[in-house]
Amino acid sequence: MRYLTIALAKGRLANKSMKLFEEMGITLEEMKDPNTRKLIFTNEEHGLRFFLAKGPDVPTYVEYAAADIGIVGKDTILEEQRKLLEVMDLGFGKCRMCVCGPESAASLLRSQAQIRVATKYPNIAGDYFYNTKNQTVEIIKLNGSIELAPIVGLAEVIVDIVETGSTLRENGLKVLEEVCDLSARVVVNQVSMRMENERIMKLLQGLSEVITGKE
Ligand code: PRP
Repeated sequence: MRYLTIALAKGRLANKSMKLFEEMGITLEEMKDPNTRKLIFTNEEHGLRFFLAKGPDVPTYVEYAAADIGIVGKDTILEEQRKLLEVMDLGFGKCRMCVCGPESAASLLRSQAQIRVATKYPNIAGDYFYNTKNQTVEIIKLNGSIELAPIVGLAEVIVDIVETGSTLRENGLKVLEEVCDLSARVVVNQVSMRMENERIMKLLQGLSEVITGKE
């Protein structure tokens, strides 16, 4: 039997996803070793193969069918714009994509000023300002610690993920507008969905039962 390959976004999402699979009786002892540098793990009993990848690469692996299935944040799905099927909301990793900045930037948003927007998500930010708000802005791509940008004067506002809001609070920034809700999603390769439909549906069914059991 061919392995079904599942790509997990490294970090918190992967850990939570592995817990769900464990609750379905799919265990990967090797993956739990905190010192392992191994990237790929197989479960012979279930014919499954799991690998860890950087979040933004998960949709790429799935689009090219290097993974049949992926578990990744909605933010990454929106940003990467890959051809894939988004089939399930896992309900964890809940957070919001927001426009944030100092209180003083609120008026710049209202007046549709031509501001600078710093973000790790240029496609999401561009789509929001250009298509949803019809506001011309300059988008500046950063790779992390986005909250710095308005503090040091790189940009008036940021588009970033807000979970607890503590990063914003500790840096004197506020949510000014909400772009969308985010959470962990299951994505499937379009061809895999046809060729391996039965196995994939069974796996999704299992995941959905574990999640419903938790609610
Ligand atoms: C994310 C995000 C915010 C923070 C939000 O950053 O970019 O900075 O978490 O969480 P909070 O609302 O609970 O404070 P992450 O820690 O992933 O690192 P990064 O700054 O390198 O993107």
